Amino acid sequence: MAQTAGALIGIDVGTSSAKGIAIDPESGMVLATAEHEYPVSSPRVGWMEQSPEAWLAATRDVIARLRAETSEILGIGFSGQMHGLVCLDADGSVIRPAILWNDQRSAPQCATLESGDGLERLLRFTGNRALPGFTAPKLLWMREKEPDAYARIRRICLPKDFVRDHLAGTRCMDVADASGTLLFDVGARLWSSELLSWLDIPPWWLPELVESTDLVGTIDGAPVAAGAGDQAAAAVGAGITGPGPLSVVLGTSGVVLAATKEYLPDREGRVHAFCHAVPDRWMVMGVMLSAAGSLAWYHDTLLPNVAYGAMLGEAERVAPGSEGVTFLPYLAGERTPYADPDARGAFCGLSVTHGRGALTRAVLEGVAFALRDCLDTVHDVGATTVRGRVSGGGSRSRIWLQIIASALEVPLEIMATDQGSAFGAALLGGVASGVYRDLDQASDACVRVTEVIEPVPAWIEPYREARRRFRDYYPALRSVP
Ligand code: XUL
Repeated sequence: MAQTAGALIGIDVGTSSAKGIAIDPESGMVLATAEHEYPVSSPRVGWMEQSPEAWLAATRDVIARLRAETSEILGIGFSGQMHGLVCLDADGSVIRPAILWNDQRSAPQCATLESGDGLERLLRFTGNRALPGFTAPKLLWMREKEPDAYARIRRICLPKDFVRDHLAGTRCMDVADASGTLLFDVGARLWSSELLSWLDIPPWWLPELVESTDLVGTIDGAPVAAGAGDQAAAAVGAGITGPGPLSVVLGTSGVVLAATKEYLPDREGRVHAFCHAVPDRWMVMGVMLSAAGSLAWYHDTLLPNVAYGAMLGEAERVAPGSEGVTFLPYLAGERTPYADPDARGAFCGLSVTHGRGALTRAVLEGVAFALRDCLDTVHDVGATTVRGRVSGGGSRSRIWLQIIASALEVPLEIMATDQGSAFGAALLGGVASGVYRDLDQASDACVRVTEVIEPVPAWIEPYREARRRFRDYYPALRSVP
């Protein structure tokens, strides 16, 4: 590794905020952090939009604050919420608010795409099925519902690319994030000409493709890496550059991700088969849409005046299985294992004897069981793993990690920093700037496991039992019109 004094900066353009981190490239020690929040607007049920200009202003502020706290900036990398559609006109101005990864409005367009032999063709050309969260179905929705705005499109990009393009003068997209557009041939790491001509989308709307570690521009003289979608970046931040531990992310969404040496699409499209941020590596991931998002909804809606610590303390005093209460976390529809934008959440099995500790624990367990569904699907596709590495805001709760380890039946490793995606982005910046030879060297220098949470032996059987109940409820409720 090159001898250095100075910092690497990672920026994550997330759903609730832009988060920045400055790290010491020799040890990975966090030197400074900064965060700037912005709102999500939901103009209709199932719609999720955000202002790209708000991302840009927030990121400028975060970089300025980190710059004030660090000496020399050696490299910068970006990560961001995936799949969001940003449409630009001939002047490069934003045409409409971005349509986000958790927006479900394009469900009818997805159904049309998958009809007939559509699903089989999508899987063949892109490795993935049509989910409303992905980018292409949103374009089809716009073409149908907002034809005037659609006619003005000259360029499209993803959230962190919009921000990086503005700040670093670039015009590109990394293959890891491009994988979630449904316009991309994941196996070949190229735009899919078949998809583009099938959907009649002009290829010149799309940016040049690069690898996540490529040096693509500068910000105030500091080299800038292309960066990656947040899940690939979180895996990099946890040192998951190839087969080995799984990345388990407890953000607004919940993810179980395995890095693979080869492209491993699922014949039924139950998992996302995407390129990794590591050149020549791929990943398979199961995504549930409301993980920490479920807990935040539960807290803000039902217990807004109760501190998180007190709420989780009540859950801790309830036995595993939540006294028979089951929570289905499908508050925003679901992706894995049910590709169902209309799936909805529920509390089941309530009685007058239940206190709020049982309800809170049921939420924690419901998310854990949904993650187990993701894990089982990732295993089905062929990834083999015996441990996970956690990141994301929800991973700060020890009781939740114990519940998840016991439901997944694998040990969970806690990392020195829980800023997974921003940390991974900083490592990408380190490779682009030549501080590291590659991501393996970056991870040897910077990634540290600080603790391992083992499954609680006495909880495993109750959780197997509770999971059987959990799995029965979704099809039963789904059949109610
Ligand atoms: C992944 C996905 C989410 C967002 C959250 O496919 O949609 O994890 O990237 O930021």
